[in-house]
Amino acid sequence: MKAIEIRNKYIEFFKKNGHKQIPSAPLIPENDPSVLFTTAGMQPLVPYLLGEPHPQGKRLTNFQKCVRTNDIEEVGDNRHLTYFEMLGNWSLGDYFKEESIAMSFEFLTKELNIPVEKLSVTCFAGDDDCARDTISAEAWKKAGIPEDRIYFYGKDDNWWIAGEEGPCGPDTEMFYDTGKPACSPECQPSCDCGKYVEIWNNVFMEFFKDKNGYRKLEQQNVDTGLGLERMTMLLQGKETPFDTEIFAPVMEKLLKLQKVDNISSRRLVAEHLRSSIMIICDGGRPSNLDRGYVLRRLIRRMIRHLNKLEISLDELSNLIELNIETLKEMYPDLEKNKDIIKSVLIEEKDKFVKTLAHGEREFEKEVKKLEQKGENLIDGKVVFRLYDTYGFPPEVTEELAKEHNLKIDLEGFNKLFKEHQEKSRQGAGQKFKGGLADQNEQTIAYHTATHLLHQALKDVLGDHVKQSGSNITTERLRFDFTHPQKVTKEELAKVEEIVNKQIQRDLKVTCEEMSYDEAKASGAIGLFTDKYGDKVKVYTIGDYSKEICGGPHVTHTGDMGRFKIKKEESSSSGVRRIKAVLIKE
Ligand code: SER
Repeated sequence: MKAIEIRNKYIEFFKKNGHKQIPSAPLIPENDPSVLFTTAGMQPLVPYLLGEPHPQGKRLTNFQKCVRTNDIEEVGDNRHLTYFEMLGNWSLGDYFKEESIAMSFEFLTKELNIPVEKLSVTCFAGDDDCARDTISAEAWKKAGIPEDRIYFYGKDDNWWIAGEEGPCGPDTEMFYDTGKPACSPECQPSCDCGKYVEIWNNVFMEFFKDKNGYRKLEQQNVDTGLGLERMTMLLQGKETPFDTEIFAPVMEKLLKLQKVDNISSRRLVAEHLRSSIMIICDGGRPSNLDRGYVLRRLIRRMIRHLNKLEISLDELSNLIELNIETLKEMYPDLEKNKDIIKSVLIEEKDKFVKTLAHGEREFEKEVKKLEQKGENLIDGKVVFRLYDTYGFPPEVTEELAKEHNLKIDLEGFNKLFKEHQEKSRQGAGQKFKGGLADQNEQTIAYHTATHLLHQALKDVLGDHVKQSGSNITTERLRFDFTHPQKVTKEELAKVEEIVNKQIQRDLKVTCEEMSYDEAKASGAIGLFTDKYGDKVKVYTIGDYSKEICGGPHVTHTGDMGRFKIKKEESSSSGVRRIKAVLIKE
């Protein structure tokens, strides 16, 4: 079965079971500058898991585009992917464990025709926070999984939360037995020898975790996720996702083009190319910051590995075309955005080629220094700097070093590399926590400016103006709002003037916590925003603006700089988009 057929079967099955299909959210979260990419189908649904009614009801399903980059260093092996598609279904306070398990079992065994013998499942073993999940185990037994293939594990294996805080709960996971021999008599689904592959995760989200610990949510939710590439690989009896139709055409092309054989590099190129294409298609652009930096790294690693395969970089354009051709049935947007995807990738490639040339010059300088000192070992710090700043992998530095009869301090490099990796992992974890806690001064100021802009638009254009999206970088704010026609120059000038006046008044910004209803009654705007728990924060800017928001904000508006609107354009039908900057003078 092809991936797209599995996807269609999944959606149809859950629709048949009373679920409404919702669209895949973009990879770049629209209203959430606090996360890098959409990493799971549940992410855009957090407010609804917490109790806000979803317009489509209590049973939802979709296929969600996801990017996870925590394991980026592992790509090139036989399974890690940075981009993947997650098939998901949700119960928002509707069905719970039994029905969810019955549906999963039916889908796997009846729709995908997986023999029951191939399935094992795991359930939560229980601890001080949450009881042993015997209900799920019973439901599996009832469905037809024999007791000796039902395993119980603790929080490390059978508990799911996105990051550190948020909705969470015990999960039950389904595993597929590939038929490979067991690595030992103790081999179990939790073992990663490759015999068992996790195929589906049903999370029973009835808890919320914050720094004070766990509390029960008002409703019992189900959040499930099935990795499409992995399922496709298993059903096709393939060893890796790279052998399925999702990657095969690009993999074959790389094999034809390569002058040096390296399967890891071929996989890495194919994987990173697909991820970059998907991210760019959803509006991502390479930069030195956050998600832009992740994209930049993906593209650069891909280029380095094309070099490693000794494939001419002039082939990039053809490879992009081929990849889009391969994926367009699954993602029709790719065809529409082909030109922009190509130009972004090729421009970044050209930049990187220049950077590499710089790196070589840096390397030569280091060589001279060593020669003068009469030494022959390149310091780990230097190897790391070449890697981090110039994108030189240590293998390349080592090769160049050999040509000069020099050695590199690989151990020193590895140590620094590990430290760096640890830091970026923590960084990614931080981002996941939500809120703007780790944002810098500039993004905080833009956040406050967004509130002023929101109110000013209402003042100038009318009360129909409602925020429909917001995106903040250190360079600018972007604000989408409902308004039926183009905003005139005069109106924009007025909005600008109002915002600047409020900045100059040096208004005090205060924050209060209150219930959602109190906030509504107080006249606070921005009700569309994520509602985390019963309490919401309301930020008041002097006598001018009152808005529900997670913050943080500046304490006084005085130092924000001069507000300037750079662009006003259509975002979608009935929605306008403003990009604006704060200029420090
Ligand atoms: N959120 C869970 C996961 O990512 C289930 O969808 O595995």
